[in-house]
Amino acid sequence: MWTISEVKNLKGVEDQLTQKVDALLDKITTNISTVKVFRCQECNDIGWIVDQGANSARPCKCSYKAYFEKLMGCSGISSTAKAKTFDAFKTNGTGILFKAKTLAIAYVREFEQIRKQESNSIAFCGQVGSGKTHLALAICYELLTRNIKVVYMDYRDALTRLKQNLMEAESYQLEIQKYKTAELLFIDDLFKGKGKDENIVYEIINFRYFSGLPVVITSEHLCNSWLEFDEGTGSRLIEQCSGRIVVFQGHELNHRLNR
Ligand SMILES: Nc1ncnc2c1ncn2[C@@H]1O[C@H](COP(=O)(O)OP(=O)(O)O)[C@@H](O)[C@H]1O
Ligand SMILES: [Mg+2]
Ligand SMILES: [Zn+2]
Repeated sequence: MWTISEVKNLKGVEDQLTQKVDALLDKITTNISTVKVFRCQECNDIGWIVDQGANSARPCKCSYKAYFEKLMGCSGISSTAKAKTFDAFKTNGTGILFKAKTLAIAYVREFEQIRKQESNSIAFCGQVGSGKTHLALAICYELLTRNIKVVYMDYRDALTRLKQNLMEAESYQLEIQKYKTAELLFIDDLFKGKGKDENIVYEIINFRYFSGLPVVITSEHLCNSWLEFDEGTGSRLIEQCSGRIVVFQGHELNHRLNR
């Protein structure tokens, strides 16, 4: 049996103990919350918003963002190219620049339908400095934000690299596979410095043609000369870009001279 005072004493001890334990717990939780700072407050970095009541979960906004960053990293598009947006592309509301921009924006907007068609691609050719690469990058960036796997291919660099790897089957396959299978391939400066290239470009274009995979192309050469460079590659590309080939002609379009 315990006396009242004994119990009171005991209670006192207990209270002290409880206080200590509480303080300890506080300390631990404070430590936890200061050590573990979640990057996303909405999902605590799980990537999902869970609704236990409804027994359901939806992807958190941050997981889209992380996925976008990953796609952007894999695309080969430099982060400085992010500045080449549609907004930054100036036109005076008429003429070829306006037409090109309108077509590019429509391409992005209708991409989900266009990609299923035979003519699923878009090309900007002609005058140096007229904004061909800028518009193509704007398309790529917008589609990356829609989680489309875009791959950038600098024609001349990529061919040089592929040719160097030609004898090493594994790295060659790895590199060319990237261009063959990307959801959208951006070939910048097609046929630039074209010499006697082997069938590398043809291998990429032919594969994409038969797989129904779209390309965005820029080229200083007008598309009738694509046929002269390489009829197989040129004719497939012209077919894929049919109805969406923008031709920039005239030195006055050279933005580098007009700044
Ligand atoms: N209409 C435009 N509005 C704003 N900047 C432009 C425009 N056209 C071209 N530029 C800029 O001029 C430079 C050259 O354009 P670029 O797209 O590289 O030309 P191209 O690929 O046709 O040679 C880039 O810095 C680009 O952002
Ligand atoms: Mg260019
Ligand atoms: Zn989140």
